[in-house]
Amino acid sequence: NKPLLIAIDGPAAAGKGTLAQSLAGRLDLPYLDTGLLYRAIGKLMQLAGLDLDDAAAATVVAGKLTPADLRRPDLRGREAGELASRVAVHPGVRAALVAFQRDFAHGPRGAVLDGRDIGTVICPDADVKLYVTASAEVRARRRTDELLAKGRAVDYQAILAEVKARDARDSGRAEAPLRPADDAIVIDTSALGPAEVLATALSFVENWR
Ligand code: C5P
Repeated sequence: NKPLLIAIDGPAAAGKGTLAQSLAGRLDLPYLDTGLLYRAIGKLMQLAGLDLDDAAAATVVAGKLTPADLRRPDLRGREAGELASRVAVHPGVRAALVAFQRDFAHGPRGAVLDGRDIGTVICPDADVKLYVTASAEVRARRRTDELLAKGRAVDYQAILAEVKARDARDSGRAEAPLRPADDAIVIDTSALGPAEVLATALSFVENWR
């Protein structure tokens, strides 16, 4: 089998991570959640009492990031996501992470990477590029239901505002803004469940092979 490189991009809470994980499992490929890199930098800066808007400080933290930092337990939540999107605007931070992501992508078997700029900047040479999206309302509803299921008190309107603010920051930044690559296949998950999204993605992968 020749290596297979799959790039998955899209806004927060569209179902990218779920798809990336299940695709990697099904195709037996290594998987990198690139959001974790930015989340870890945001969290490390917060813990060190550094200003998230300080591009130079953020770039230093990004340059020292180790794989162990990605295993921190506090990276998956909403707060780390906010911190991540603030440090992700700095070009120096993004530049410091390019080599690690490309090395991961170009392993012997290929890989699945998900993020915001995989198809456009990190792996423009990917074999299959997917852009996974859904309306802000659907994404906010899913996130709200997820948190309610965990027994947390949440307000849909507040989550919707958060989702929209994150979209605006990720799409509006000058460096590597969120957008579909010209050759990306767009999958709108607003009316699809995870199994349907996986089946759709697999059909494009089979088509490429
Ligand atoms: O995907 P996730 O929600 O974990 O990403 C957190 C934040 O990290 C995003 O909102 C975005 O600002 C940033 N990010 C990025 N480029 C990536 C992955 C994540 O800018 N490839």
